[in-house]
Amino acid sequence: MSETLKSIAPAKDWAVDSWKRKEALQQARYDDKDALERSLQHLSELPPLVTSWEILKLRTQLGEAQAGKRFLLQGGDCAEIFDECRPEIIANRLKVLLQMSLVLVHGMEMPVVRIGRFAGQYAKPRSDDFETRDGVELPSYRGDLVNSPEFTPESRRPDPERMIRAYARSAMTMNFVRALVDGGFADLHHPEYWDLGWVEHSPLARQFHRIADSIGHSVRFMETVTGQMPGSVRRVDFFTSHEALHLHYEQALTRKVPRQWGWFNLSTHFPWIGMRTAGMDGAHLEMFRGIRNPVGVKVGPGMSPEWLKSLIRALNPDDEPGRLVLIHRMGANGIGDKLPGLIKAAKSTGSPLLWICDPMHGNTEKTSTGVKTRRFSNIQAELEQAFDIHAASGSRLGGVHLELTGENVTECIGGARELNENDLSRAYKTTVDPRLNYEQALELSMLIVGKHQSLQG
Ligand code: PEP
Ligand code: CO
Repeated sequence: MSETLKSIAPAKDWAVDSWKRKEALQQARYDDKDALERSLQHLSELPPLVTSWEILKLRTQLGEAQAGKRFLLQGGDCAEIFDECRPEIIANRLKVLLQMSLVLVHGMEMPVVRIGRFAGQYAKPRSDDFETRDGVELPSYRGDLVNSPEFTPESRRPDPERMIRAYARSAMTMNFVRALVDGGFADLHHPEYWDLGWVEHSPLARQFHRIADSIGHSVRFMETVTGQMPGSVRRVDFFTSHEALHLHYEQALTRKVPRQWGWFNLSTHFPWIGMRTAGMDGAHLEMFRGIRNPVGVKVGPGMSPEWLKSLIRALNPDDEPGRLVLIHRMGANGIGDKLPGLIKAAKSTGSPLLWICDPMHGNTEKTSTGVKTRRFSNIQAELEQAFDIHAASGSRLGGVHLELTGENVTECIGGARELNENDLSRAYKTTVDPRLNYEQALELSMLIVGKHQSLQG
């Protein structure tokens, strides 16, 4: 039966602005309400960034992932920034994600769902509404969608015009990504596109070379047999995601479309609800229970089994496949205690789910000099435990959610080149959380393959 004919009903007592009846955490406070209304009016008249059929296609792929037939790779910046909407940054980030997905496809022998954390990742939750420096208190930086990071009253003042700029940059990013992906950029099999100098520094160098070689071999084999590149590697599906935090912005891009029932958030294919805004009585849950996009929810160590079950019921009352992705982010030290009970609770609902692991956000720490970083060894440890815990619980780890960049930054400690605290000052660029660099990201994808293969026996 086609999606449109199913007896699945629109969410009850929901309207595109019913979230306003609930408490909305982590929102920008604009002092000029008329300017806010003008920006929202403008946004609501602009074309969508994605289409309903792309969203439904992603839902189908996520349904396949839930059935164990695909692995999900979701990755990109912690926060995109306006000044980094530049061709080389976008292309390098796409390149590392595509190469990681090739490693996963070949090593796991299954198709990958590719979702970028980009083309809209402009709003950030913060632990405090205000930041104080030398006795001066100003609003916290909440992402380029809201204000700007410099510590001055003008920069920190939330400016509704920024929503239009964020929309425009999302559109430019999307446009370039679509052009690259359509134009054969995904054909990255040839060795000259791979920068594997780091492999020699790893104790697993031989295993990593084997993985890289096998990718080249299988493609050359296909070329020889068919006389051409396999079509599927020239053109790939690439989807977008962002933390759907700023509810005015999300509402302005949530629309009805012709020949489909219900509402779609057309700012992105895959919005997710962050850990800080996942409360059952909150405005975010209200907003996202009413749309037809697939939705992600971050699941942190503070989430109880009962809370998780209520979330599943609220976000997917009709048990639709491909609708809900749970993104656990526990930390390497917490995952062993917390995850098994949550998996059990989620299973007891009988609802179709995809569990993926974000091994970044539970492993953030500060160095002795106060620099935010993450240890590659903790990221790897959380991920490997995640595979084991799911397997032992009769569940399956169906993907990963990573903060990464295609640039040669030094923000996370460790990896094959053993970056240490002193290296961090060399190329530390993030405005929010530390990201894996090109090499660390590729290395992690190879470790995932190694872990997957060892579980297969
Ligand atoms: C994030 O993904 O950047 C984030 C803030 O994560 P979380 O909601 O898991 O803390
Ligand atoms: Co982050």
